[in-house]
Amino acid sequence: MKVLILLSVLFVGVCAGPCGNKVTGKCGYESCHPVKDGYLNVHFVPHSHDDVGWLKTVDQYYYGSEDSIQTAAVQFILDSVVEALSKNPDRRFIYVETAFFWKWWEKQNEETQATVKDLVSSGRLEFIGGAWSMNDEANANYISIIDQFTWGLRKLNDTFGECGRPHIGWQIDPFGHTRQMATIFSQLGYDGLFFGRLDNEEKTQRLENKTAEMIWQSSPNLGRSADLFTHVLYNQYSAPKGYCFDILCGMDPIVDDEMSPQYNVDWKAKGLIDFIQNQSRHYKTDNIILTMGEDFHYTAAGINFYSMDKIIKYINSKQSSGSKINAIYSTPSCYLKAVNDRKETFSTKSDDFLPYKSDKHSYWTGYFTSRPTQKYYERKGNNILQTCKQLAVQSMEGLKYESKITPLREAMGVMQHHDAITGTAKQHVANDYARILTEAISKCEEASSAVLLEISGFIKSNYTTCPLMNISACAVSEQSDQFVVTIYNPLSRPITEFARLPISDNDSYDVIDPQKKKLITQIVPIPESVINLPGRNSSATAELIFEATDLPPLGYKAFIVRKDHTKQNQNRIHTQQTQPEIDSVDIGDKRFGLKINTKDSSRYEMYVDGVAVPLLQNFLYYKSMAGDNRKAINRASGAYIFRPNGTALPICDHSNESKIFKGPLVEEIHTTCNNWTSQVIRKYKGEDHFEFEWLVGPIPNNDGIGKEVVSRFKIPQYHNDNTFYTDSNGREMLKRVLNYRSSFDLKENVENISGNYYPINSQIMLTDGRTQLAVLNDRAQGGSSLDDGELELMVHRRLFHDDAFGVDEALNERAFGTGLIARGQHYLTFGSVDKQYAVQRLLAQRKLIKPQYFMSINNSDITFNELIDNTVMQYSGMRNPLPNNVKLLTLEPWKEGTILLRLEHIFEFNEDKNLSKSVVVNIQDVFLNFHIISLKETTLGANQWLSENIRLSWKSDDKSTPSSDQIDKNTFTEIDPKHILLTPMQIRTFVAEIIATP
Ligand SMILES: *[C@@H]1O[C@H](CO)[C@@H](O)[C@H](O)[C@H]1NC(C)=O
Ligand SMILES: [Zn+2]
Repeated sequence: MKVLILLSVLFVGVCAGPCGNKVTGKCGYESCHPVKDGYLNVHFVPHSHDDVGWLKTVDQYYYGSEDSIQTAAVQFILDSVVEALSKNPDRRFIYVETAFFWKWWEKQNEETQATVKDLVSSGRLEFIGGAWSMNDEANANYISIIDQFTWGLRKLNDTFGECGRPHIGWQIDPFGHTRQMATIFSQLGYDGLFFGRLDNEEKTQRLENKTAEMIWQSSPNLGRSADLFTHVLYNQYSAPKGYCFDILCGMDPIVDDEMSPQYNVDWKAKGLIDFIQNQSRHYKTDNIILTMGEDFHYTAAGINFYSMDKIIKYINSKQSSGSKINAIYSTPSCYLKAVNDRKETFSTKSDDFLPYKSDKHSYWTGYFTSRPTQKYYERKGNNILQTCKQLAVQSMEGLKYESKITPLREAMGVMQHHDAITGTAKQHVANDYARILTEAISKCEEASSAVLLEISGFIKSNYTTCPLMNISACAVSEQSDQFVVTIYNPLSRPITEFARLPISDNDSYDVIDPQKKKLITQIVPIPESVINLPGRNSSATAELIFEATDLPPLGYKAFIVRKDHTKQNQNRIHTQQTQPEIDSVDIGDKRFGLKINTKDSSRYEMYVDGVAVPLLQNFLYYKSMAGDNRKAINRASGAYIFRPNGTALPICDHSNESKIFKGPLVEEIHTTCNNWTSQVIRKYKGEDHFEFEWLVGPIPNNDGIGKEVVSRFKIPQYHNDNTFYTDSNGREMLKRVLNYRSSFDLKENVENISGNYYPINSQIMLTDGRTQLAVLNDRAQGGSSLDDGELELMVHRRLFHDDAFGVDEALNERAFGTGLIARGQHYLTFGSVDKQYAVQRLLAQRKLIKPQYFMSINNSDITFNELIDNTVMQYSGMRNPLPNNVKLLTLEPWKEGTILLRLEHIFEFNEDKNLSKSVVVNIQDVFLNFHIISLKETTLGANQWLSENIRLSWKSDDKSTPSSDQIDKNTFTEIDPKHILLTPMQIRTFVAEIIATP
């Protein structure tokens, strides 16, 4: 309430002045206040850090509800900033989170919108970052990062044109920084990146060496075009202590009336100058940046600006008496431009900023795994979004579906926020994220179903989806005597998928493919641990498996499934359960198989091309450190922090029997580790990986000790020299060496478990030079290799203490009256180095963008022959698949008559003899429903024509590469769709004009 009263008092009649009148100014670098040569230029950067959900939900933050949790109201921030900027043209402000901006913009009248447009076009209000949210870097997948930038940037360009285009990455709060994120910024055409959080030792060392500004060489594949100027902020993102003028800080305003007893500007300015001089000792040029902001500050912006106006004026007034300090309102891009103008030479960096530690006991590596089921749901949201975007394009009426696609675009943008996918929001906020995602998914699936219905011409039916397949539940397959399952493949190459449909195991089924061929099926029981999941409301006790071969690219096959009443249980002879006397059992074969010790289900022998390799897999847990967080040594493990108390302890009791099921399609072993952990290990016919489907929880709470559960794989006597590899946002692999950082000296290495944890978005890998072991996952997780031959991934954590970094809740997730249970999959591959990259990359791609199932109950008055004869049972959206090393990354409705299209080379240059080569594709006539008439290339975010993007160039001390900027940049926007060259790891973005093929 206090906020509101202040606002109304301050801003009465403010807009009577110049706002609303057209101010034609310049934006971008041209609108910067000039710096002064021979002076230390101090850039005051007013900003507000507005989390898209954290302690409060997105809407609570926007409207300002639940003030008792946190005083934060984004709508009033934007209201008051616009007013305050209008009052004085010298003032500047940056805005970052477009999720909040658009919520506000839509509610403003024309006059306010016109004022904002003036502010933007004169560079007084500048958008920076510009994505839907300030995304997390560790857990976010590259597709979702690119998508959420695309959406935010598109709206900015549509509304504000060139002046709305951000130039700068502003990742001030995410808890560590990936190299792929830097690559993305470079490909977005940005000139630099600013952030606040990095390992405290690295920060100290960089400040000491004046290397807190550097050229980040972010991709060995893309070379110089992926270089990015990177600035480590001095004071994270806060104002200097004592200089927060926001109402939330309750500080005295600056008073420069010498007659007043409250006069304070002289000593306040002096204190600030001390701070400024200290800071400037750590940076190379005669410019420094003062971040004048904090979380949700500027709800009464006039107050903040009032004091800044005064102190800036006072500092500059001293120049006449010899002061060499020049204070200006600025933005990060104006600061960056001033630094760039100095032509300074900077050092380079080519690894990343992970893991992040804020003190020697606080490694922020717990959030790599926190809220494992939310992390899975987020991945699923991406999968569903890509599907509905593709199908909308294929309908040739893409724009008709905008209103059903956009909610999921925006929900996925929200999910990338650094307190969303990270699992570091409060429980009620996490519940709200799930609500947002669920509602958006259902709209997007409505669009997919509508398009599929048009394509298939399916009579008297409709499509539904089975959102609970991950707990082996699906109403349609469980309850219907006959139904059709349509499996859509969103990849640009054909895929063979083993479909698993939940059924009752008393029944037998026929599965008929689009060619009316009856398929081989197999029925495998669902493990007891799944059947008994709390909250699972399903009659399914088994899964019906069949092989959906060669699902067409961007297309589907529809399979008829019908209960066979005549031959009860005949299919079941396909699956045999072996006798418990046998000590060991094989799944797979000698070419690729596992021999499992049934007495100790953690011991295996892996067969790869006839050679036996011992393998262990076990579940273990770390006891979480409890503590009051008053001192570093008392830090508790929490939503952010992983702080184990000791090494991992085994959790399996091994007295449980394993069950083996073999049939023509899959061989699997069901193991029980203890009464809250179990696993299914399976090998499908013809596949080159093993699947480990784990189920963990409820993690017991009876001893009050938090537990963090890992699945650990080990090849004894394997020599990988303390070295392992992890992916960066699902793309390039980075080398990790135990207890070592390549770009700083790690001295305080006391947490040497959590300090060796890295985010695994897609895969973690070991090699001994001849062979390669990799484990892939289905959601973001923390992982490491703590000993030679060993890989571990953290699958679940349940904690009873908060780690005192703000969320103020213990990560003790509960569902259905008990601790949360999580189920997920790991995929293990092993083989010789020359083949394995291909196996890993192609498998990772399939597991990220999976086939989507659409179910339809068949009306029994239509015979199956009638159905097949009158329906398109098989459809391919492409005339030819794209090559295996190319992925159609994006296919989405864009503007009238155009689509957005991205092509990606999914290999690095040194991975595979053939697939790592550059490749040329012809996409002109590759799509079934349309023909490409023109193709214009844009930057990665699709908000600027590529030929118009000119990035600033920088000098680095790395002499190994030529210093010319943008060596391989295309100077033409218009591209021939018949010849598109892709180099390793390159992503190219196009706006295509299309016409329907006759
Ligand atoms: C950005 O907006 C401007 C102004 O509306 C428009 O001319 C331009 O084509 C847009 N850029 C892209 C890449 O769509
Ligand atoms: Zn934040």
